[in-house]
Amino acid sequence: MNGELIDVVIKSRKEQGAGIAVIELVAKDGKPLPDFSAGAHIDVHVGDDLIRQYSLCNDPVSSDVYRIGVLNDPKSRGGSIKIHTDFIEQQTVTISAPRNHFPLDENAKKSILAGGGIGITPMMAMAYRLLRDGKEFELHYCTRTKGAGAFEQELVTAFGERVVFHYDDQSKSQLFSPEVTFSPVEAGTHIYVCGPTGFMDWVIDSAKKMGYPSNQVHFEYFSADVDTSGESFEVYCEQSDITVTVGTDDTIARALKKAGIKVNMSCEEGVCGTCITDVLEGEPDHRDHFLTDEEKADNDQIALCCSRAKCSRLVIDL
Ligand code: FES
Repeated sequence: MNGELIDVVIKSRKEQGAGIAVIELVAKDGKPLPDFSAGAHIDVHVGDDLIRQYSLCNDPVSSDVYRIGVLNDPKSRGGSIKIHTDFIEQQTVTISAPRNHFPLDENAKKSILAGGGIGITPMMAMAYRLLRDGKEFELHYCTRTKGAGAFEQELVTAFGERVVFHYDDQSKSQLFSPEVTFSPVEAGTHIYVCGPTGFMDWVIDSAKKMGYPSNQVHFEYFSADVDTSGESFEVYCEQSDITVTVGTDDTIARALKKAGIKVNMSCEEGVCGTCITDVLEGEPDHRDHFLTDEEKADNDQIALCCSRAKCSRLVIDL
């Protein structure tokens, strides 16, 4: 993981749609920011021990500025609300360099981008990149009500007929339908989805039921309700030579913290990948939404913030 931290200044903050702050960040030292690729996110240091990930939603060609969209989500665990409350123009903020766990497949013949609510943000950077490369794509933007979404005029101007808006409160004929949008199933078509957990689960399940193989269905979860409870088990940290017991309601990360072993974490709900650690022995009980099905089947990595063990003892590389 790239651990570089960057001080940036909030160049502009504008409110759009229903409770979305669109924030532009520029380097405090005036130098160019690191390049980013479509689908990348940054960690934003929102407060003490409060780090949240936000997708970059501007054209990746313009790395003199990073733009994020932040939904004022009452169900948030504090990050987005604090940004809405505290972040003002000209304020200095610390961020990470961009990382990309949600890249475009360069070999796709056609890309279908489906953004639910604030999940439109990584899709925008992808659409800009695909447009620039002259690739075939569709961008579907699903929101609960007309007027709730941000960026609508920008999307129409940039992508014209390639962007389709779907509103839950409008006529049935314009509702988003994975079965219609993803047909026919073709080897060169890749699907990308981001948004609320229920929306994503529905879209991903629909694509898989239609016959799309998992390597053609790409996704990035913002958050997840994850059940971290289960049978007690032991974890042996090989580098530290320490064994901890993970109780029924505990997590591996919390058990390690009590034993003095620090685990780098961010989302704490299995979506960001910050806490992923190599497994040397034993079979993980994967609870995260970060690793792919194939990576989970390999059983050689685990998300320490939420996953557990299907055996009595795991050995991890920590
Ligand atoms: S801290 Fe985000 S996946 Fe574990």
